[in-house]
Amino acid sequence: MTPKIALFASGSGSNVENIVRYFAGKKTVEFPLILSNKQDAFVHERAKMLGVPSVTFSRDEFADGRKIVSLLDKYEVDFIVLAGFLLKVSLPILEAYPNKIINIHPALLPKFGGKGMYGHHVHQAVVDAGETHSGITIHYVNEQYDEGSIIFQATCEVSVGDTPDMVADKVHALEYRYFPEVIEKLAIGVL
Ligand code: GAR
Repeated sequence: MTPKIALFASGSGSNVENIVRYFAGKKTVEFPLILSNKQDAFVHERAKMLGVPSVTFSRDEFADGRKIVSLLDKYEVDFIVLAGFLLKVSLPILEAYPNKIINIHPALLPKFGGKGMYGHHVHQAVVDAGETHSGITIHYVNEQYDEGSIIFQATCEVSVGDTPDMVADKVHALEYRYFPEVIEKLAIGVL
């Protein structure tokens, strides 16, 4: 049976699009559903372009978990991938998908993780700290922000004078390069 993956995103969804496009024409993984906590997130436009159904849920529905778990059941979802998703995953969802939820974080955890550390805030903190490197971390999700065990990391240089936007571009390039491959390996059980 082809593994089915639900993609969660809160904003633009460029990773979501990159992931779905990577698997187009391959038969290794299916993406039955995209979910977001934001009605106006651009990821819904991308979902339409990609021909994948997308839904929005409220913060309360996410905390409660029941509606989302039953939706994931309905679509026979095996794995959850958080690709630019900003809410802390609630216990009912973690319990329904033990060790089956992964996240991408736009820095080298354990540095620059935790509550409030997402997107632009992460790259700003990296520049402010004078880091010479940043990168990506793909990790399992647990009850704490950005603390699940690490599956994969890749690094990029942060040069003197780089702005947070420049770091974001370098990090996005790593995300596009590596995230789909790591998802594929996990889904087919070779990682
Ligand atoms: C990505 O860089 C992702 O790593 C980050 O949000 C961005 C979403 O971009 N995730 C986090 O910060 C989670 N803490 P996208 O919407 O263009 O894919």
